[in-house]
Amino acid sequence: MYVAVLRKFGGSFVKTARRQSSPLFFPDTSFSNTVRPPELASPTFPLHTRAPNPPHDLTHPPVLWQSTFFREWPKSRGAYIMYGRSAHTQREVVQQALIIDQRPADEAAAPRRRSFLDAIAEPVQPPVPAAKKPPAKVNLRVLRQKHAHGEPLSMLTAYDYPSARLGDAAGADLLLVGDSLGMVVLGQEDTTEVTMDQMVHHCAAVARGSSRSLLVGDLPFGSCLTADEAARNGVRLIKEGRVDAVKLEGGERMLPQVRALVDAGVAVMGHLGLTPQSYAQLGGFCVQGRSATEAMALLHEAKMLQEAGCFAIVLEMVPAPVAAEVTRQLAVPTIGIGAGGGCAGQVQVFHDVLGLYDKKVPHFSRQFARLEAPMTAALREYVDAVKLGAFPQPKHAFKMPPDEQRAFEAAARADSPDGAGAADTKTKTAAAPSTEAAQRAAAVAAVAAVAVAPSRARVVRTIEEWRNLQAEGVLPRGAPLGLVPTMGALHDGHLSLVRRARKQDDFVAASVFVNPAQFAPHEDLATYPRPWEADLAALDKCGVDFVFAPSPDEMYPRGKGALLSTHVDLLGVDGVGEGASRPGFFRGVVTVVSKLLNIVQPTRVYFGQKDGLQCVAINRLIEDLNFNTQLVVGETVREADGLAMSSRNVYLDGTQRAAAPAVYAALCQLRDLHAKGERGPEALRAAAAAVIAREPLMALEYVSLASTVDGQEVAQPLLPAGEATLVSIAVRVGKTRLIDNVLLM
Ligand code: KIV
Repeated sequence: MYVAVLRKFGGSFVKTARRQSSPLFFPDTSFSNTVRPPELASPTFPLHTRAPNPPHDLTHPPVLWQSTFFREWPKSRGAYIMYGRSAHTQREVVQQALIIDQRPADEAAAPRRRSFLDAIAEPVQPPVPAAKKPPAKVNLRVLRQKHAHGEPLSMLTAYDYPSARLGDAAGADLLLVGDSLGMVVLGQEDTTEVTMDQMVHHCAAVARGSSRSLLVGDLPFGSCLTADEAARNGVRLIKEGRVDAVKLEGGERMLPQVRALVDAGVAVMGHLGLTPQSYAQLGGFCVQGRSATEAMALLHEAKMLQEAGCFAIVLEMVPAPVAAEVTRQLAVPTIGIGAGGGCAGQVQVFHDVLGLYDKKVPHFSRQFARLEAPMTAALREYVDAVKLGAFPQPKHAFKMPPDEQRAFEAAARADSPDGAGAADTKTKTAAAPSTEAAQRAAAVAAVAAVAVAPSRARVVRTIEEWRNLQAEGVLPRGAPLGLVPTMGALHDGHLSLVRRARKQDDFVAASVFVNPAQFAPHEDLATYPRPWEADLAALDKCGVDFVFAPSPDEMYPRGKGALLSTHVDLLGVDGVGEGASRPGFFRGVVTVVSKLLNIVQPTRVYFGQKDGLQCVAINRLIEDLNFNTQLVVGETVREADGLAMSSRNVYLDGTQRAAAPAVYAALCQLRDLHAKGERGPEALRAAAAAVIAREPLMALEYVSLASTVDGQEVAQPLLPAGEATLVSIAVRVGKTRLIDNVLLM
């Protein structure tokens, strides 16, 4: 049994809950002096109500109790916080409610206090933005202060204007134009090829992109063979590269060079431990100072560099206890990379932090992001937009004064070898239609006439607007209308469906709607690609007449999963294949497709076989719920290497994309085995799985052999007479899920 406790705070009730062992009485003796108020003789407390205050005023003794009855206890106690009352009738006393006035007796008559609900309604004043001061430049004095206050120093490498801007904006105390640029920017094997000229060139670019961080430029391999040379090159980096300080690698052997630089007025950062310029001499890129003797030598060299005038020292690939002790004994800050957390600061290579380096990621670096995939996706989107003619748009182009344009066009026509002049681009006007057929033909012609305009597809955003198209005869009733439902991010798979519809139907509509109801909370709803302009241009180019692109609020005005909302479920679908991998996915799909069919009322609806189990589901939906539409399934469109086109392919980075054709190869392997007579589902599955297992980047989710009639897994014998078997596969490549299928006839 449960006991509901209603606490009264000022004028508001809050209901809480407690489990009781006895169904008949409430044993908490602290409430023993409870009194039943006469107006509450019949209990009337609801499960949910939003009335802020109960309609009665409780000027009763401080503690009251009242029985109430709750049919079903909510799973979440949070759902049980409630206010006010309603007309629930009392049954047997199986559950009880206590109303407790929380106010001490002497406060009972005090004026009503505002509840937190009232406060929620208060408009929140936006904070007045403080005037922004440009952040102060970090110089050596600021650096010393930060170090003196124990503030950890952050250093990032930067090599050009954009990386400098990003590092500067991120608040890095120091930006190092490292000679690592040889590897991460120039693609060289090590840093030894980098020249002084290159360093000057990159330092100057970084200086143009940074206004705040302290800039340090690396003196490259062979640039400091003598003290004199070090001073000259150091001065050059300051003069031409516009950096604030230089860094040079090496300990004791570099002391004359450090002193010469300091004497020349150049601020110098030292670099001990692994010094990549002399990695060959050190026996490779390996940890330095592992033995006590080596560690002591390193400590002494660090002290010598400090003595010679270095303002900071980088410690690279040094055991953490050694780096911590060096840091403790030095007055100047140490900046660690692969030297543990005991240094005064840290440095990381820009490309390592952002996941932009394709070769070995050092053990000591951490990828705070993997930007290669999203950057490739953006670039691929650009390339696709160019291919589809979706970029540039008129807004990206420059105009000329209209009279100049006319004069130019006339002069150019006269000057053209054929002298033909411009084509007649006047739009056709439809004659007044009389019969229904003529009306339809006129409407088709009117839509076609707009083809010369840059954007001919009519974009419809609301359900009302769509219905008006029919009411106003823009879309004549009974005219064959094809609908291609999409989530946007269109590729040739979608466009082939549009082209098919264009051939079959008088009018073609495409819907572009990223349906939140088919994404699980952990899935990619937020990041799903939405290249609207490119999509619209591609649909235009394929001759779509209408693009229905509602907002999520238009489709789900009460929100996804609102109580008492209607959805369409397929029985038995979440137990197998794609349904088992994505529980709730098919519910989201068939619900939104039902809505689209009801709104758009197409004669035919087009889906790609690429989503094979989805086609099975839509087929069932149309048949079971008697939608007056015909399903048309278009074949899967593939890239040259067999990868099925998918909007999610843009998530793949270079190596993942290279592995991706294995998905289709696995299906082909299974199909070949079937063609050779193998009928056992397990043997067939194993053949496909073996192909995926050869790809280290891939993880198989499932291989499903399902009926094209009801989507259920087929047992032996594999093929029921007259039915095809849909072989579907789902594979994970990194965070991306690839699905594909073939039919066994
Ligand atoms: O060149 C470089 O990037 C460096 C850092 C790794 C310290 O020297």
